[in-house]
Amino acid sequence: MSETSPALSEIPANLPRHVAIIMDGNGRWAERRGSPRFAGHKAGVEAVRNVVEICGELGIQALTLFAFSSENWRRPKKEVGLLLDLFITALEREVNKLHNNWVQLRVIGDINAFPAKLQQRICEAMQLTAANQGLILNIAANYGGKWDITQAVRKLAMRVADGGLQSAAITAELIATELSMHDLPEPDLFIRTGGEQRISNFLIWQLAYTELYFTETLWPDFDRIELIKALQSFASRQRRFGQTGAQILALDEDQRNRA
Ligand code: FPP
Repeated sequence: MSETSPALSEIPANLPRHVAIIMDGNGRWAERRGSPRFAGHKAGVEAVRNVVEICGELGIQALTLFAFSSENWRRPKKEVGLLLDLFITALEREVNKLHNNWVQLRVIGDINAFPAKLQQRICEAMQLTAANQGLILNIAANYGGKWDITQAVRKLAMRVADGGLQSAAITAELIATELSMHDLPEPDLFIRTGGEQRISNFLIWQLAYTELYFTETLWPDFDRIELIKALQSFASRQRRFGQTGAQILALDEDQRNRA
């Protein structure tokens, strides 16, 4: 362990079950080095590898990474093309390693808009790792929180139109069953790197009660120490879910997480 690594004792006992991250700052990281923005995205893949490894080691149940938003199509055509190529390369290079480490890879978002080769790599990687019992790694690609809610509501509307569902039976719980990641706990901790303090149409429904953590650190510099700082910040917070502090203190830890 290097001198600056937090000791194991600095890893809090109360870890989030699900961490969601907006990996921002790749472009600025590259520009500060006089490199093309794409160099920042490539360095960003290294940071992804690290964070996946650490979350796996710590036994975190799920990690969700915002890799490409529905709005990212608005970037210069060249950057979009390079990003899509980078996803293909990263999938090809990493999938076996992920599989050997019991990682279950899932992609959330509307992948139909992607080139056929990328769609194929995504399907192959999801099939290969589907039965793995380790970290669930969700890559949000062509994902938008508004898209997610819209597709969920559309499915329910179709059931109403078919006569199989009464509109009065539509509840928040029912909508949640049609959202991406409905089988996972909602994120306990949201991290955004790169200094901006926005949700940017990420998991807008699923983040309703999530603890938010913002850091100036640019994504390619987000390493083990930075992740542990975020986990420490999470562990220091009292999650009240609408209750009072006194009510929460009266619960044991399991009850607190379910409150
Ligand atoms: C935001 O930085 C980052 C992205 C839009 C792409 C994220 C992609 C990766 C980290 C690499 C690939 C990931 C996987 C999962 C294979 P930005 O370009 O907006 O940075 P800026 O705000 O400094 O311009």
